[in-house]
Amino acid sequence: MATPSLVEPTRRDFLYIATGAIAAVGTAATVWPFISQMNPDASTLALASTEVDVSAIAEGQAITIKWRGRPVFVRHRTAKEIEDAKAVPMSELVDTDARNPNLKGESTEATDANRAAAGKEPWLIMIGTCTHLGCVPIGLSGDFGGWFCPCHGSHYDTAGRIRKGPAPENLHIPPYEFTNDTTIRIG
Ligand code: FES
Repeated sequence: MATPSLVEPTRRDFLYIATGAIAAVGTAATVWPFISQMNPDASTLALASTEVDVSAIAEGQAITIKWRGRPVFVRHRTAKEIEDAKAVPMSELVDTDARNPNLKGESTEATDANRAAAGKEPWLIMIGTCTHLGCVPIGLSGDFGGWFCPCHGSHYDTAGRIRKGPAPENLHIPPYEFTNDTTIRIG
């Protein structure tokens, strides 16, 4: 014969669980706005992309612009820099990935062609933070004629690829495109 004592605790258990669940949802709803307010605000999101006029950057020169709070190098390479970068066999690279989100082809190898702007090989556009611990490397320096990071001695070549030192990866390339011959939209 079924005793009421078997039914009672089940009903009470259900009430406990239901009350607990409601309390948990209520707490999450209260806490969420406090966490959410730390996300980027509308003015930061508005900087999601930026346009750069590169017409005044002569061959052999570079500028650094700021994009989403980070430095981005825009370098107009010389023929010699391009030649040097092309001459490097993949087997000599520390990181063989192009680190380029703009690649459309199948290969993501860190060839010079996969690092430079599509159809505009003199242009190298890279996020200017060292892939070791985030310092900003110095241009036209180091053992490979590219960039040198003074923080812990990482050397990058003329395609921004890591060649020596503690940094594990090539300088990353941001999403960008040339909107006309002299304008780049980054982001
Ligand atoms: S941050 Fe560049 S080498 Fe350490």
